[in-house]
Formats: sequence, structure tokens, C-alpha cells
Amino acid sequence: MCGIVGYAGTATKDSDHGALEVLIEGLRRLEYRGYDSAGVAVVADGAIHARKKAGKLANLENEISENPLPASLTGIGHTRWATHGGPSDVNAHPHLADNGNLAVIHNGIIENFAEIKALLVKDGVEFLSETDTEVAAALLGKTYREQDTKDLTQALRTTVNQLEGAFTLLATHKDHPGVVVAARRNSPLVLGLGEGENFLGSDVSGFIDFTRRAVELGQDQIVTITPDQHSIIGFDGNPAAGKEFTVDWDAASAEKGGFPSFMEKEIYDQPAAVADTLLGRSDAEGRMTLDELRIDAEELANVTKIVVLACGTSAYAGSVAKYAIEKWCRIPVEVELSHEFRYREPIVDESTLIVSISQSGETMDTLMAVRYAKEQGAKTLSICNTNGSTIPRESDAVLYTHAGPEIAVASTKAFLAQITATYILGLYLAQLRGNLFSGQIKDIMADLGKIPAKIQDILDRSDDIRELARSMAEASSVLFLGRHVGYPVAMEGALKLKEIAYIHAEGFAAGELKHGPIALIDEGQPVFVVVPSPRGRDSLHSKVVSNIQEVRARGAKTLVIAEEGDESVQAYGEFVFYVPETPTLLMPLLATVPLQLFACELATVKGYDVDQPRNLAKSVTVE
Ligand code: G6P
Repeated sequence: MCGIVGYAGTATKDSDHGALEVLIEGLRRLEYRGYDSAGVAVVADGAIHARKKAGKLANLENEISENPLPASLTGIGHTRWATHGGPSDVNAHPHLADNGNLAVIHNGIIENFAEIKALLVKDGVEFLSETDTEVAAALLGKTYREQDTKDLTQALRTTVNQLEGAFTLLATHKDHPGVVVAARRNSPLVLGLGEGENFLGSDVSGFIDFTRRAVELGQDQIVTITPDQHSIIGFDGNPAAGKEFTVDWDAASAEKGGFPSFMEKEIYDQPAAVADTLLGRSDAEGRMTLDELRIDAEELANVTKIVVLACGTSAYAGSVAKYAIEKWCRIPVEVELSHEFRYREPIVDESTLIVSISQSGETMDTLMAVRYAKEQGAKTLSICNTNGSTIPRESDAVLYTHAGPEIAVASTKAFLAQITATYILGLYLAQLRGNLFSGQIKDIMADLGKIPAKIQDILDRSDDIRELARSMAEASSVLFLGRHVGYPVAMEGALKLKEIAYIHAEGFAAGELKHGPIALIDEGQPVFVVVPSPRGRDSLHSKVVSNIQEVRARGAKTLVIAEEGDESVQAYGEFVFYVPETPTLLMPLLATVPLQLFACELATVKGYDVDQPRNLAKSVTVE
């Protein structure tokens, strides 16, 4: 989830900015989308001039003050959230091609980059970075060079028709001063319309300081901007149009996509977070292809035990993983809080696979636990959202989630991306061990592929859950019940409420209720119940329905999350929210979403700072 900005302008007596000022301001506003590196390329004096630097935008600004760029009115800029290739100067965008005459920036993941790279390498192309972007740049450069017409837009069209995955690509060429071309598939791109200048951005915050007239590009569209014009075509070459709108947000809410908080925006980012995490993990035959795993396949196939280590929300993703991995791979999976694991002389050895889960990759408790397990000879695999952070660096293997930067302290989109990643890992292990047939893996991947649209459906129907939250602003305690994979969902629902709304909340395994927690129930006690699919194992569904009745009989206000079409809960739920049908094991990716929305709305109504709750930190780097 990188930030991109493009600019084509003219010098007027009123204009106080050239390309560089526009690009840097745009990147400053887009830095929330990633800050692993930043870079710009401008066209001036018949050449491309690029500067790029790992780290935050300030590093790029220092670099430019030491190595100034010539004045220019055309350019592109990028702030990176690393996916392919760690955060370094050389992996930073822009990437150059066509002998340094073409500069390209990219947001997204190109799934088939390895195949294209292999072909280009055979042709003699040399690559400097590990990125998929440089492959796209080289392909565009080659296409452009081989074309008689030297038409940058057409060269981009030919190129993008060979790419698979999600991408927004921007390019500028020294032979076309005043022109920036861009293409979009599954990644965002907005055009900004100015007077004698036009802009491109990942979102409107990329140009909000300069214009408020914007055009949202559609799927599979290419736009070419000059200072005075813009033209849009589809990837098929036919003329196309975007959707024009006027930006009425202030700059701060533009970064939040118009949402009142980053947390709410991140809840709405979840369809993309899951989709991006799934990208490029399996081929058409249903074979899982995990390129980033650096542990020998045979060693992985032969592990005898998996121990998942994590803290907070990430630990609940681990609890979901236990159900899926044990079911698919028939390997015992233990899930343990990192800080508990570290200090109890745990039994791990060479045949143990440690799977750490961390959004930040910097949580000290998890890092220390991973180090300890390594010392005992265990193999370590990190599921992480932050490329190049410490835990993946110190692990034997890494599986990155592609949720993009998560800014709100309370984790939402990283959680769903983590769960998705654990499913991917489970399916990969099942394939290696021969526990599942490729047809079964393909079916599960197909079910996973439908999840983003189902999350979107929940988000589109969020009014009821928000209204419920507003009506419960005075609640002093809320309980959450679930069984099987619904149990970690219940715990995560409770954690969200504690974290941001400061309301006492507990998540219980519904079967445990009768062993104690049911004593908490009295008249009016709100209890959320996560009900599994009635299509799944009969006993599971009916047991949870009985649990709803048990708490209801003692006066609880029952709030039910159930699967669409499950009429059996209607009689027992004071409030029922339906999530779309999905196989039981995948249900956490859906059932969590209304609980996140509930907590977010409730905390907002109470006037709390949803993004920065009291006493908490996004990344806890002390033990
Ligand atoms: C902190 C955050 C939580 C997060 C936990 C683990 O406590 O406030 O939201 O779940 O750390 O963080 P990690 O980066 O390791 O996933």
C-alpha cells in the first residue's frame, strides 16, 4: 500500500510551485500509506533526474538538499510500503528503465513478476533491485523501445495487459516532457484537475493542497496527463471515463479517506487487506506457491509440532490458525502468548516450527520468544505486516501480510490479514505433507477469494450495528461468547471494546459459561454471541444456540452474529446481525467485522480518541 503522486504543470506568473514542491507536499500527505522509503523523478533538460532514499520522507528531502534537482514541471513521486524486497535505497522507487530515460513508480503487487523477470533476464536485462516494480519498468522500457511510434500511453497499455495482480503504475519519459501516464488495476488512482496543471495521486490527499476537483479512475483504466489535458482509455484501448467529484474534506480527513478516524478507515480497508494478502499465493492448478519461505520444503513437511507465538490481537489470529492448521495438516498446534512462552522452559526442538505473528515485527515480547526458540534449535517463521522489521529479519522464513500500514493503535485490518496468512500457511503445509488434494486446496482458496466481497457486504450494511453501538454508550460491561473459531472472535471483539471504549468486556468459550462466567449474567447484561454456520457440524451450531438460550433465560440482552439464512437464532436474539455464508473455518474473517464496527462506533460516540487510546502503544518495544 504505497503512496504515489504525479504532476504535469506549466510555468505561469502566478504559480509558486514546480514539480518538486508538488511531489514533496503530496508525499508528505501520503506518508500514512507507507514510509519505508521515498523517491521522486522529474523530467528536465531532456533527461530523467531521480532521487530516492530508504526511510521517511525527511531522508529524501535531505538527499535532495545535498544533491539538488533541476527545476522541472513534470514528475512522479513515491512513498513505499515494502512488499517485494526489503526497505532499502535500491528497492526504493522510482525504478528506471530504457537506459535511465524512463522512470516508473508502482503501488500494488505484480503476481507474475517472476516469470516476466526470467524472460527479461534471458534478453540480457540486468536488475538492480528485488522489486516487482523494476520488472514492470523494464517491460515498459522494452515495449517502448521496440515500438516505432514511441507512444508512451500505448506502450503502457501493451505492458499492463501482460501483468497480473494489483497495481497502479505511473511513468514518465525524458522524450515526453509534460506527460505522465498511469494505469490502474485493483489499486487506487485519482486524477486531480487544476488550471494549467494536472495531478495524480493514490488518493486526493496527494494533491489536496493544489486542487479539489478530482476524477476517480475506474478498474483497468489508463490515464495520460499533460498540463492542459487528460485522456482516459481502458486496457482494451477504448476511450473511457472516470467519476468526477469535488473534494470537500479537509486535508486531515483526506488522509483518512474521509472517515472520522484511521481505525474506521482501516476497518473499511479490510476487503483490500485480505485480497492483497491472497495475491500471488497459488497458481491456476491450485498449487500453493510461497516464494518467500526460506525453509527447506522437506524440513517443513516433517515438523512435528507448531507453536504460534504472538501478543494482543495477533495472538487471537494465532488461535484461529490452530483450528485451521490442525484440521488441514494434522499437526499439533499450540498457541501461546510470547511473554508466557519465554519464561517457562518450553519444550521445543529442531522438529518444532515456531510461527510468530506480529503486525509491527517489533514487539519485544515476541522477538525475545522467537530468539529463545531459535536458541533451542526450532525453525522460525514470521507472519508480519512490516517488511524488513526485526522479527522477520531474525526468522528463518517470512510470510508477509499485505494490509498496508496500520496507524490506529487497535488492530483491525492487520488481524484479518494475519488470519488470511495463517490459512495460506496451513494450505501450503497441507500440500507439502499431502494432507489435502490440490482440488481441495483450490476450493478453499476459491472460498477465500470470495471473502473480500463478503466483507464489503458487511461494511455496506453497517447501519444497524452502529445504531446498536450508539444505543449502548452507557453500558458498563459487555460479554462475548463463541465456540470453535468463534471463540477467538469473541475474545477479539471484547479486546476491541476494552482497548478503545474503556468498557469492561470479556470473551468466553461458550461451553465454559456454565463453569463460572454465567454467574455474571443478570438483568440487561449485554452478551454478544458468535453463532457458527448451521451448515457446519450440527452439534456446534445447536450447542451455541443453547448457550444463547441459557443467558437469555437469566435476563441477558442477547446480541447475535449469525450466518445469513439462520432463522433459528431469530427467536433468541434481541439483535441479530447476519454475515454472509462461508465455510466455518473462514468465518472469523467475516464475524469479526461487525464487532470491530461496534467498538469503533461506541468509542466514537463516547468522544474518545479512537486512534490513540489511553495507556496503549501501537508497537510495544519493551518487555
Ligand atoms: C500492542 C498493540 C496491539 C497489538 C499488540 C501486538 O499491544 O496495542 O494492538 O495487537 O501490540 O502487536 P504486534 O505488532 O506484535 O502485532
